[in-house]
Amino acid sequence: MVCYEVDPLRMNTDSPSVATPEFRRAPHPILPAYFSDEPGRIERVRQLFDSAASDYDRINRLMSFGSGAFYRGDALRRFGISPGDRVLDVGSGTGVIAKLAQALVGNEGLVVALDPSAGMLAQARSSGVRCIVPGRGERLPFADATFDRLTMGYALRHVADLDTAFAEYRRVLRPGGRVLLLEITRPRSDTGMRALRWYMHKLVPRFARSGDAAELMRYYWETIEHCVPPETILASLSAAGFATVRREVRLSIFSEYSASVTAA
Ligand SMILES: C[S@@+](CC[C@H](N)C(=O)[O-])C[C@H]1O[C@@H](n2cnc3c(N)ncnc32)[C@H](O)[C@@H]1O
Repeated sequence: MVCYEVDPLRMNTDSPSVATPEFRRAPHPILPAYFSDEPGRIERVRQLFDSAASDYDRINRLMSFGSGAFYRGDALRRFGISPGDRVLDVGSGTGVIAKLAQALVGNEGLVVALDPSAGMLAQARSSGVRCIVPGRGERLPFADATFDRLTMGYALRHVADLDTAFAEYRRVLRPGGRVLLLEITRPRSDTGMRALRWYMHKLVPRFARSGDAAELMRYYWETIEHCVPPETILASLSAAGFATVRREVRLSIFSEYSASVTAA
């Protein structure tokens, strides 16, 4: 584990493996334009994020009209991250959420940023995230009941299996702990869908400085368009044993899924 300033976490080596394909609750189906099987998906996603990492924050700022960090910070405050909390940010990427969380937990707390992309984690480290760990949501290298809060921003579509990932999230949260998942969800109306498809699939890729970053943004949209409905995500959280499972929606497309681990 790469965690330079604070290293109180014991490694877990007994995480469950991902279920076989016929039993998986995948966030989206195989997307043949990008990959033809699960190993191909993992490799393609890693390669896309690695090579677009240095451009990711800039594109994100443009795409969200500069509001992305503000919105994430507001969501974390409403979620109730407090001084002294131990927070795991899964799919941390360049660490936008992890950095905001570091400010909220203060010196007594701990924020661990976890991501499979070395390129994204390198950006996170240079932007000031103190504790970074390579890894995937489906197999967390931490002992049971390690964290008070777990966050995941716009990375849910990249896990292999929702059930496996959520079982892991529940395992590493202590009793009374809570999870917050931020995601973009397809608009329900045809007009909203057409507008968002044009914006995300046609316009946003033009903000990119490289072909790979443009490809990543087109892929971003494809995974939103083909993502399972919110009901499936809520059902998977419940199946993992979470309580108070709920979804709040902002501006029709920003979903905030939250759930808690019942105190013993
Ligand atoms: C769109 S970025 C989100 C970054 C950041 N959380 C944010 O709010 O901007 C998605 C991240 O998910 C990561 N990722 C891909 N597969 C993953 C997995 N199986 N588990 C956790 N993260 C994954 C990618 O490497 C990428 O950094």
